[in-house]
Amino acid sequence: MRPTQAKDHSAALPPVPRLVPVSGSPTRARPDGPYADHASATAAADPPRPGGPPPAGCGDAHTVDADVPAAVGRMLEHVLADRLARAGLVDPLFAKDLADRVARFTQEGGKRVRAQLLWWSLRACGGSEPATTTAALRIGAALELLQTCALVHDDVMDRAALRRGHPSLHADVHAQYADHAPPARAGRFGESAAILAGDLALAWADDLVAETPLPAWTAIVVRRLWSDMRTEMVAGQYLDVQGQTTGSLSMPRALRAACLKSALYSVERPLALGAALAGADDATLKRLCSAGRCVGMAFQLRDDLDDLFGDPRRTGKTCGGDIREGKPTYLIALARARAEAAGDRAALAVLDRCLGNTGLTPADLDDVRDVLTGTGARATAETKIDRLVAQGLRHFDGAVLNPAAGPRLRGMLGAAAGTNGPRPAPGTPASVPRIACAEESRG
Ligand code: IPE
Ligand code: IPE
Ligand code: MG
Ligand code: MG
Ligand code: MG
Repeated sequence: MRPTQAKDHSAALPPVPRLVPVSGSPTRARPDGPYADHASATAAADPPRPGGPPPAGCGDAHTVDADVPAAVGRMLEHVLADRLARAGLVDPLFAKDLADRVARFTQEGGKRVRAQLLWWSLRACGGSEPATTTAALRIGAALELLQTCALVHDDVMDRAALRRGHPSLHADVHAQYADHAPPARAGRFGESAAILAGDLALAWADDLVAETPLPAWTAIVVRRLWSDMRTEMVAGQYLDVQGQTTGSLSMPRALRAACLKSALYSVERPLALGAALAGADDATLKRLCSAGRCVGMAFQLRDDLDDLFGDPRRTGKTCGGDIREGKPTYLIALARARAEAAGDRAALAVLDRCLGNTGLTPADLDDVRDVLTGTGARATAETKIDRLVAQGLRHFDGAVLNPAAGPRLRGMLGAAAGTNGPRPAPGTPASVPRIACAEESRG
């Protein structure tokens, strides 16, 4: 029996893009839609492929299926070798200090969530042609470069010293120049360098998308998705820091920021990009986008919980950053609303004392954890994550997906939101595919 329709937990946000005008039965993306004129104007022969032929194996879907993070890593290596060589010609100091840092940050990588979701969405929608799989790996690599931009800038804005288990990029540059300038000036220089590094990563990401040979119609759809995704992410980051500054703490506002700053570029848009590359019909695209939005929200709520309850050895980030910076997260908005409703003055006093307190001690952080647990905010967020994932996966019901890849995609979505239970040790065969770390697949 089909479970009762749960409340829609996803925020009301931009509509799912249409690939073609409404035309009745499901249709494949085709060049007769609203962008037809533009499509024919750009339907030239494939542009030359900068950087030489693609790395071996990227045109073979089954090779990539076997280890997606590794295939994305090979594509990044190929693309970044070309970018670094060109950076070296521009200026050797820039290449060594900045371009090389951007390349290393991206290649050493994180979980490669976005590229993996794009890949499995492509495969679930039937994409398997060599040209298509190569394009998917290029766009996946571009997503990882966009992620570099997002994280490097985010760590400046959030004053985060640790990322992926290492000093964040601005902290690393600061440390390199600590002996060359007074601390404040070296710190400011580290931040300036990180702003430029993020810009460079974004430029490389955009170039990679622009230089990916695609059929004219697919190119238009992919570029539109890409463009919307970048804007949404910037909008979400703005809501995040604006809310932090003004102290606005409402649950709808927190959910909206979470959706824009994270859910869309982390899950929904990667799925849409994979579907667009595969030439999926509108109905399938819509289902994937709806699933992606729910799971994307769960992904960010998990990240917010991890800020307090996650193991820094796994997250690679410092605990309590959101509290120290006074981030207006859903979790905190929920705790405050619960404490107010219950007249829990002690809990409210803890939140008032700790939120935005840059001198937060480990004991203060424990007090905040107690408030989150005591008010029930933690348990409610966990339940919401489970419901969002379940709701997201229900959007797959009735979708016509590749029988081998569809289940992989479902498993990947569960793993993205951390709902697959504890991570197995590296090397342990997982019954449900999890989001593997780039380091694990290399090692
Ligand atoms: C972190 O994203 C930033 C958020 C949107 C929460 P990830 O958790 O995917 O980070 P990496 O790429 O694996 O390091
Ligand atoms: C970051 O959100 C979102 C983007 C990078 C666009 P967070 O600030 O919550 O991410 P973490 O926790 O630092 O990874
Ligand atoms: Mg942030
Ligand atoms: Mg952050
Ligand atoms: Mg976070």
